[in-house]
Amino acid sequence: MHKIAIINGPNLNLLGSREPEIYGAVSFETYFAHLQAHFPSVEFFYFQSNVEGEIINHLQACNQNVDGILLNAAAYTHTSIAIADTVKAIDTPVIEIHISNVLAREAYRKTSYIASACIGSISGLGLEGYALGVSYLLTKTKTS
Ligand code: DQA
Repeated sequence: MHKIAIINGPNLNLLGSREPEIYGAVSFETYFAHLQAHFPSVEFFYFQSNVEGEIINHLQACNQNVDGILLNAAAYTHTSIAIADTVKAIDTPVIEIHISNVLAREAYRKTSYIASACIGSISGLGLEGYALGVSYLLTKTKTS
């Protein structure tokens, strides 16, 4: 069984109602049910927090306990050296996820402190980016 953690940062608990023209009209809970059904061989661990330190604690707790992590740090992507340091400090592969195309938006979203610490980034493909990240991790990580 593959174990994959999904960690979502601030305001992603509001997906579905938050700026739907950018992030879509589907809640993460609804999408997550589809994701789980699509990957029955994966045990998912979903965590969302609006608090930077909680995201750091959760990344540390996931380390070596899952095969891979999908991290959408949301706005912390563009500000948090602390989360970037945590991604560098842990051994578990992390993929950076963004629902919107951050490179096509405001200038301050073009900087990611996290990207260079991740094995790769998926941006702008909507919620489907999470499924693509899972597919990649399944090809690259061994089962535990
Ligand atoms: C986001 C992009 C970030 O710039 C923004 O602050 C978010 C969501 C995305 O998934 O597109 O909250 O990470």
